[in-house]
Amino acid sequence: MTRRDFINRTSAAYAGLSAWGLLQPAPAQAFDLPPLDSAQGRKVLILGAGLAGLSAAYELGKLGYDCTVLEARARSGGRVWTVRGGTTETEQGGPTQTSQFAGGLYFNGGAARIPHNHQLTLQYCRELGVPLEVFVGANEAAYLFNEKAQGPLNNRRMRIRDYHNDMRGYTSELLAKALDQSALDEKLTKEDVEKLIDFLKNEGDLNTAHLYKGTNRRGYKIDASRPVYADGGPGAGANPGTLTDPYGLTDLLRSGFMQPVFYNVGEYTYEQQTTLLQPVGGMDAIAKALEKKLAGKLVFNAPVKQLRKTETGVRVVYERDGKPTELAAEFCVCTIPLPVLKNIDSDLSGPVKRAADFVPYIKTGKIGLQFKRRFWEEDDGIYGGISRTDMDINQIWYPSFGFMGNKGVLIGYYNFYSRAEAVASLSIAERQKIALEQGAKIHPQYAAEFENSFSLAWHRIPYSEGGWALYDDASRRKFYPALLEPDGNIYFAGEHTTYLTAWMAGAFTSARRVVDAIHSRVGQYTQK
Ligand code: FAD
Ligand code: ALA
Repeated sequence: MTRRDFINRTSAAYAGLSAWGLLQPAPAQAFDLPPLDSAQGRKVLILGAGLAGLSAAYELGKLGYDCTVLEARARSGGRVWTVRGGTTETEQGGPTQTSQFAGGLYFNGGAARIPHNHQLTLQYCRELGVPLEVFVGANEAAYLFNEKAQGPLNNRRMRIRDYHNDMRGYTSELLAKALDQSALDEKLTKEDVEKLIDFLKNEGDLNTAHLYKGTNRRGYKIDASRPVYADGGPGAGANPGTLTDPYGLTDLLRSGFMQPVFYNVGEYTYEQQTTLLQPVGGMDAIAKALEKKLAGKLVFNAPVKQLRKTETGVRVVYERDGKPTELAAEFCVCTIPLPVLKNIDSDLSGPVKRAADFVPYIKTGKIGLQFKRRFWEEDDGIYGGISRTDMDINQIWYPSFGFMGNKGVLIGYYNFYSRAEAVASLSIAERQKIALEQGAKIHPQYAAEFENSFSLAWHRIPYSEGGWALYDDASRRKFYPALLEPDGNIYFAGEHTTYLTAWMAGAFTSARRVVDAIHSRVGQYTQK
């Protein structure tokens, strides 16, 4: 029995056990397509050295294909890009920026977090030996700030834990009241109601009368009169700590923190639930580890200008030292993002060209701000995590590495759609100004501690021209199917060919899908 026969025979039993909840879903594994003599030395041209292109070349190489990867930029990784001191970028129509970050400091300009449920991304980190550390996503110590809040919470920052605990308290109190008045008697037995009230007492930290009167989950008042060996919480001697007072329910309701801009948070979003991870030293460690496996197969500074179908496969014209250069192959894996692909002279089919023309990409931007002191740690007790606001800066991300260091780089904005468009249209100096002015409303320390910045707008970055593909139901139906089929001998991969858009896992899964498609065509077996 071959390994594959064994897998096939046992997979039915496995599916059964799995359906009864007796087995966990299998974690992603190394890709194990059957070896084929007929695959050896067959030429594949891969367009783009982002994670889709790199992993396609890596997997095809394991099977014996002869791959060449053409990459327009001088680096691999595409939207996996770590900005450090010396990094340069020139946006379309913009000046060249060079990062002045101090040694060891960086931010991830594109992908920055790996969800624990993205098994495939984690599998590649495991297989390639990329060391990971925790990425702090949800942080109850970070802030919320709504400029347009009505009432006493206007123009005030609030700790996320204050908002969460007050809202849990009040909603629990209200529900407990309804239950006390037997409003739900028809649905629940008396014992059920008692259990539900127990849950609400815990959930909202209600008192014995089922009222919310504040909670130590919000933390303690800072008391400047305490001696230097004390801090804001309980301590030595006669210091039980002083609890903070809850905000009023109606004040909270008028705070505006119910708006979606504040809600894309760890507790609610599957991909942002703890634990999140990140490669030690920057996300580009993943691309670099793949690059190492592809020695001699990558051609940098090689922007593809033409993509042709021929009788024997494909012919690609790319620029090399300013001159048009050609390469031919039997197969092509095209991972070029659609906003770039649409401007490449090609023999692609009408449906593929329409997909390239009409699938929109998100506008999104980030700025890294270097500060001479990690005041968010020293003064605010924030170690990683994200503050959220309705201002144009949208989010502030605190670094999840280098805690207690002398300096630090935080992400001063991470914004989308119209906020990203507005900020991206500003000069580099104006972007910095807005990041500092708006950020200072949450962290007044900004002005005194700021050193330098580096900003980016993905929709203006050559060879990306967008953050990620944005599909709705109509465009999935209309445009997406054309990207899943080979167009002659040209196969399409990249996050835009998946339901995991905006994630590295999308790039990886798309690569595996086309590798399987090419290999099954060569070996004439049925693709998984
Ligand atoms: P790319 O990385 O775009 O690769 C395409 C490659 O093609 C590039 O290297 C490009 O230079 C090259 N190319 C383009 N034109 C040409 C040409 N004419 N000739 C030759 N080469 C060309 N994912 C996560 O998992 N976690 C996150 O936290 C996360 N956050 C993100 C935040 C932002 C702001 C962005 C933009 C993305 C984020 N993502 C995240 C998504 C993730 O980065 C992408 O899904 C993934 O990197 C896409 O890989 P790809 O290979 O499909 O495309
Ligand atoms: N996947 C992208 C992020 O994590 C959207 O920010």
